[in-house]
Amino acid sequence: MGIPLTRPAPPRLSEAAALLKEIEDRGHFSNFGPVNTAFEADMIAQMFNGEGACLTVCNATLGLMLAVANVLRDQPGTRPARRMMSARSEAPRYALMPAFTFAAAAHAAMWCGLVPLFCDVDPRDWSASAAAEEAMLTRYGRQIAVVMPYATFGFDIDLARYEALSQRHDVPVVVDAAASLGTVQRDGRGFGSGFSGTIVYSMHATKSFATGEGGLIYSADRQMVADLRTMCNFGFGKARNATMLGINAKLSEVGALLGRLRLSDYDRVLNHRAELVARYRAALPELSFQPQRQNRQAHQFCSALLPNRLRRHRAAIQDAMAKDGIGTAAYFSPHLGQQDFFVEQAVFGALPVADNVASRVISLPLFDSMQAWEVDEVVASLCQALKAVRVRPLRPIQPIMQAGQTTPAAPVAAASLSRLPRQRGGGVTRVVVSAERSS
Ligand SMILES: Cc1ncc(COP(=O)(O)O)c(C=O)c1O
Repeated sequence: MGIPLTRPAPPRLSEAAALLKEIEDRGHFSNFGPVNTAFEADMIAQMFNGEGACLTVCNATLGLMLAVANVLRDQPGTRPARRMMSARSEAPRYALMPAFTFAAAAHAAMWCGLVPLFCDVDPRDWSASAAAEEAMLTRYGRQIAVVMPYATFGFDIDLARYEALSQRHDVPVVVDAAASLGTVQRDGRGFGSGFSGTIVYSMHATKSFATGEGGLIYSADRQMVADLRTMCNFGFGKARNATMLGINAKLSEVGALLGRLRLSDYDRVLNHRAELVARYRAALPELSFQPQRQNRQAHQFCSALLPNRLRRHRAAIQDAMAKDGIGTAAYFSPHLGQQDFFVEQAVFGALPVADNVASRVISLPLFDSMQAWEVDEVVASLCQALKAVRVRPLRPIQPIMQAGQTTPAAPVAAASLSRLPRQRGGGVTRVVVSAERSS
């Protein structure tokens, strides 16, 4: 592949032999050792304006699970074992999240006994639509146990709105900010700084803050982070004495070392990535991008939307670019409401914007060592592919009807297996619920 979608470049441990030896000599390999403690302190100082507290975890998915389990501890009728056992007989409790996101948030909610409830997204920035969230909160009320927005592709979603929403509806908020480490929010502080809910970031090899595997949980609420630390270590609130629900989600000392090394060089990495994305944007006026802000956005890939009239040709465009040796992807297509498991397990209505965004999205290459001329090559290949499909006659698309749908445009609504009648052969009947629309 000439230009891959991504070329993960976590810090080179082979060049950090002395630091690795220090860990070996110390004999302290995990359990919030000194490297981890220093890394968390560095992150608070450099990423979060010195405010609040953070906790490393071994990946963001477990971080999301911990964060959701933690906010459920305070809610009536949510004792974990009881919740699992009685899920069939009690009214479901929901985790509200946008459909246009990664599977991790929905899985985390389900591991905590919640039913994912999908809402539509905003056509401008592709994050959860405020109107759709409000409509869901009004409709489902206290059945919504947690709101889980996604800071889409590192975009600085309005956290002040979520503070207000949390107060108004008395519902906790857990933000999936997997790609956001290094994004600067509108007030100039690092994204998440001062937020009183929980925010979870990823340090996966494909993220801009790449270490390999790793995650970070942040909150301005220090007690919440302290509780999460206990949960993250088997729930041991006292010496080998579980005082709350727990799991092992700790980051190793080597993982924390990777984080410290990444942080030392991160500004340069992010600025370089931002310059490359600016070059893409300037060269591709036909494509739609998230709004551009003065403040910095961390970029994992360069995500853009194809023009509406060309969306049916996305696969052909990607194939043509692959022939030129250029790797692309289409995150997040299918969106959650189009994935087999969640069609059966989740609840949702019409998702017209998510459908549209997912059908048009294309992820273009971006990596630390990428050069400006490589962006130009990607752009040239993409423009050539766009030109080629534009002259090709459009094939009429057959509307896809699903069992139980009333019109092709009607939503596939789903509910948990336990609540649905089974079809002959063990399948699940899909039912249609009324459409939830965003503004
Ligand atoms: C939006 C989103 N949430 C969560 C995750 C999960 O992160 P991790 O791989 O660290 O578990 C990812 C990973 O790609 C992601 O893109």
